[in-house]
Amino acid sequence: MSAGTAYHGDMGEHFAAASAKSLYHAHTDRPALRELAGDVTGARVLELGCGAGHFAAELLERGAGQVVGLDGSESLLRAARAQLGARAVLHRHDLEDPLTLLEDRSFDLGVMALAYNHLDAREQLLAELRRVLRPGAALLVSTTHPTADWTYFGGSYFTEERVKLPFGDAFALDYWRMPLETFLGEFLGAGFVLEKLVEPRAREEGRPVDPVRHDKTHRQPVFLAARFRAPGGTS
Ligand SMILES: C[S@@+](CC[C@H](N)C(=O)[O-])C[C@H]1O[C@@H](n2cnc3c(N)ncnc32)[C@H](O)[C@@H]1O
Repeated sequence: MSAGTAYHGDMGEHFAAASAKSLYHAHTDRPALRELAGDVTGARVLELGCGAGHFAAELLERGAGQVVGLDGSESLLRAARAQLGARAVLHRHDLEDPLTLLEDRSFDLGVMALAYNHLDAREQLLAELRRVLRPGAALLVSTTHPTADWTYFGGSYFTEERVKLPFGDAFALDYWRMPLETFLGEFLGAGFVLEKLVEPRAREEGRPVDPVRHDKTHRQPVFLAARFRAPGGTS
């Protein structure tokens, strides 16, 4: 099991610390997902690419019944275990592989924050999510905004290719850039229903953390976040 794009070793430790407080994670992406989640009381949640467990901790504090977190990085899972203890069930799992460890129709809510675009086997993962989410369950997904990639990497907006984005002084994030119609089309093609789409801007309380990036998110989107509904149900 390689989980090639997972944030292994020092990169995972760096990400665990950065994502706890960074403007982009703590004050832009997570607040958007929090709003999209709504009431999570009692929900059994599956978090794919759970990282250091920062969002899982929020869900549990807000009354989620259980969080099952999957990630391919042992160093990030170590950070998640330290933060969540026995409150969450955490597995090392390569998201390029089927979710054979999970039962059919066993989750009320799926969360995939900034992890989907790392993967090649996205069609397989969406088929597996259809299997393990109960009919009508919500699926929250955030990803890099296509225009952010277009602005940074250039070329055609419609290019679909793996890119490497520098992260910290020593690392690079390895992920797919893709236009909006590809991102949304993959979920809609798998039968998920789009309920809401937002282009998150940093919250005011994040301004002191990083005023330059705070203001930038209000001019130029960094992320997309969507709430989908799994097929087969009404809520
Ligand atoms: C940008 S981080 C997001 C982490 C967390 N969701 C958050 O928002 O803080 C992407 C996560 O996906 C995980 N990941 C990337 N590729 C993976 C793979 N093939 N299998 C499992 N996890 C993977 C990384 O280890 C990392 O935790």
